[in-house]
Amino acid sequence: MASNPPSPVERPDLGGPFPEHLAVIMDGNGRWAQRQGLRRIFGHREGIASVREVTTSCARMGLESLTLYAFSVENWKRPRKEVEYLMRLLRRYLVAERDTLMENGVRLMGIGRLDELPADALSKLRETEELTRENTGMVLRLALSYGSRTELADALREAVADAAAGNLRPDDVDDDTLRGYLYDPQTPDPDLVIRTAGEMRLSNFLLWQASYSELYVTEVCWPEFREPDLLAALRAYAGRERRYGGLIDAKPPDRGSEKAV
Ligand code: IPE
Ligand code: IPE
Ligand code: MG
Repeated sequence: MASNPPSPVERPDLGGPFPEHLAVIMDGNGRWAQRQGLRRIFGHREGIASVREVTTSCARMGLESLTLYAFSVENWKRPRKEVEYLMRLLRRYLVAERDTLMENGVRLMGIGRLDELPADALSKLRETEELTRENTGMVLRLALSYGSRTELADALREAVADAAAGNLRPDDVDDDTLRGYLYDPQTPDPDLVIRTAGEMRLSNFLLWQASYSELYVTEVCWPEFREPDLLAALRAYAGRERRYGGLIDAKPPDRGSEKAV
């Protein structure tokens, strides 16, 4: 399949920097549905519309990477019927969204313990990854059966195997060595992590990669999170001062001819 050019960039002026990589903890589907007297699954279903709007909007704004936390390793603990519904929804999404992904030049990839997904969902994921592989616009990473601790355990297992084979020496290990064993070493760390539905926690999401990410939590539940909410988060990010433990170059006060000693 020929590569698909991304749509022209329509980036709003937010009055400050725009993130390269945005990650979203899409939470509150169940609460949103229950508040309206509906079963939780209706929240998951409506959440797909938010995924479509946010993905398209981010791609059109020229964001480089978007990571969506869609299903955690812990989410397997949920009632069987809810898990089955989520997996059906995932399989349907991976087929139904292909045209939209192609129109917007989006490359889709999965991160997580993907082999734990049902075979039919995994095969649709692989097909959509393959279909969108040459797209040169935004990378959309779906975190599926994802957990940071399992990602780090998986990384360690591979590193130990390399060490045992004589391909990795303890003295050579640094931050970048560890990054190289993560699910997707190519994508830079998220600049901004958004969590919907108000919880103040990361729930095992990108713990290593989010070390210096800016955090934004909104009370808005995922099924009602749309472009205006996205822009509010991006505007908040544009106003943040990122210091990474250092100091911002502030102009020293004018002391005339006084010399520092
Ligand atoms: C997020 O919404 C979707 C998944 C975790 C799969 P929830 O299902 O967690 O909704 P709440 O948090 O219970 O409202
Ligand atoms: C985090 O939401 C996982 C996803 C959004 C996929 P959860 O609803 O699973 O998180 P907790 O249980 O409130 O921490
Ligand atoms: Mg939740």
